[in-house]
Amino acid sequence: MPTKRTMQQAKGNRGQRTTDNGGRGFDSLEANLTGQRGRPTQPYGRIRNLPIGLSERVRAASINSLNQILADTIMVRELYKKNHWQVTGPTFYALHLLFDKHYNEQVVLADTLAERVQILGGVSVAAPHDVVQLTKVERPPRDAEEVPVQLSRLLEAHEIILETAHQAVRRATDDGDDGTADLLIGQVIRTHEMQVWFVGAHLSDVPLLHAEQPTEMVGERMAPRGRGRVEA
Ligand SMILES: [Fe+2]
Repeated sequence: MPTKRTMQQAKGNRGQRTTDNGGRGFDSLEANLTGQRGRPTQPYGRIRNLPIGLSERVRAASINSLNQILADTIMVRELYKKNHWQVTGPTFYALHLLFDKHYNEQVVLADTLAERVQILGGVSVAAPHDVVQLTKVERPPRDAEEVPVQLSRLLEAHEIILETAHQAVRRATDDGDDGTADLLIGQVIRTHEMQVWFVGAHLSDVPLLHAEQPTEMVGERMAPRGRGRVEA
């Protein structure tokens, strides 16, 4: 929506014609460069007709799924950076590095997904407020959170994306959109599964300093072997 000020600026710009260079004018030199608004080159939701051998119906369905996955990917990407900055505790260094590695992998995925939307003739979701409106990933608080909460949020976000991606692959395969299916299987699903493994491995309740002794049945009672062993 153009403001009163920007409309006045636009009017003013058009009125400033200087023709002291043989009639060609210096509008581009004198015009205000900011405050300009115009019609979109392509409205969100409208599909450009590109000759890639896929019907508009098929491309529309893929664009829809890809934009959903893109919005969720941008959310998980930013969740990784938030956690990279805010992580604390004895696993700080390992997680600080891991979160940034995963962030960078999500940067690549977001770019690939957005460009696939454009390749199919769509408009990729991009601005943060649009991402927040579209995403299915729960919004984290501004607070810094404990490591298990950080990891849990990440795993949930990954699963949301994986579920959507698996559904999208089945539909794209049935529809013959091989490029979208290939991208989702080879890049999106593989990357997320790998990241789930690395994140999930940290949510394992293992001792940090002393190995836990195996327990064995002594009569009817469970007793630790070694230290404090209950003799039968
Ligand atoms: Fe950093």
